Amino acid sequence: MSDPESTDQRPPLAGVVGWPVAHSKSPLIFAHWFAEAGIVGSYQRLAVRPEEFGPALRALPKAGFRGVNVTIPHKLAALELADEVSAAARAIGAANTICFDGDGRIFAENTDGYGFTENLREGAPAWNPSAGPALVLGAGGAARAVIHALLEAGAPTIRLANRTGHKADALAAHFGRRVEPVDWAARGAATGGAATIVNTTSLGMTGKPPLELPLDDAPATALVTDIVYVPLETPLLAAARVRGLATVDGLGMLLHQARPGFRAWFGADPAVTPALRRAALEEPVLERRS
Ligand code: ATR
Repeated sequence: MSDPESTDQRPPLAGVVGWPVAHSKSPLIFAHWFAEAGIVGSYQRLAVRPEEFGPALRALPKAGFRGVNVTIPHKLAALELADEVSAAARAIGAANTICFDGDGRIFAENTDGYGFTENLREGAPAWNPSAGPALVLGAGGAARAVIHALLEAGAPTIRLANRTGHKADALAAHFGRRVEPVDWAARGAATGGAATIVNTTSLGMTGKPPLELPLDDAPATALVTDIVYVPLETPLLAAARVRGLATVDGLGMLLHQARPGFRAWFGADPAVTPALRRAALEEPVLERRS
């Protein structure tokens, strides 16, 4: 008989840590990829209270975990607990993907920006982020990942508009001179010349008011995207489509951000396929992110 205690005998193990964690789409995404790649792996929901997060994270390698995704409210604590932090996680100020090495050392990564960029590259292959400034609406946690991704992708400047202006000012100060705060009231004019227009606010989500953004000044080459994916076509994306602009919905960001974890823990590069998109949309409870 095999020894159940032996690490070698156990299927590779990962999971998602949150509080609450029931809403997380990550188990569905990983289950889809296990089935597709024929990998016998395990990906578990781990409900961990904030006060227990540190001890729990340190115990996971001993329990056989190769790594975990972390979601609300642990994204900042994960960064602080890590032995090593990636440049992206440092710039974004939060971690969503944790890897353990053989000695149980904790490496913190943030793949939200990666997911954002991969989604646009796949959904709009002609997208050229360096062709002009980007306009980002919103200055919350999601905006930090999007701004980092746009800077890395070569956006010359980023115009940042947020209802609460001082939050845009603070983010601009964090990211440096390529990020320019613009008044919320001036957001329509700020579409002028933009290569990329991104909604990172919760506006447009089912049950919330739409994001009012006049697109008359946006160039015909602008790409418009939304990180809200419930509904898949937000009022902003519908208006952009009617105006003839390229659009990419936000579901792919959620799906692509999970790929680096799967690669690291299970050794295969999974794809974001129409079947995975359908599976994610069939889930009864959909939220804006992992
Ligand atoms: P997340 O981590 O998802 O980005 P968040 O940090 O709560 O969430 O940020 C939500 C974003 O949506 C913020 O930019 C917020 O603007 P404020 O900073 O002014 O609160 C934006 N937002 C939410 N409701 C809004 C509304 N009714 N009008 C304009 N912006 C709104």
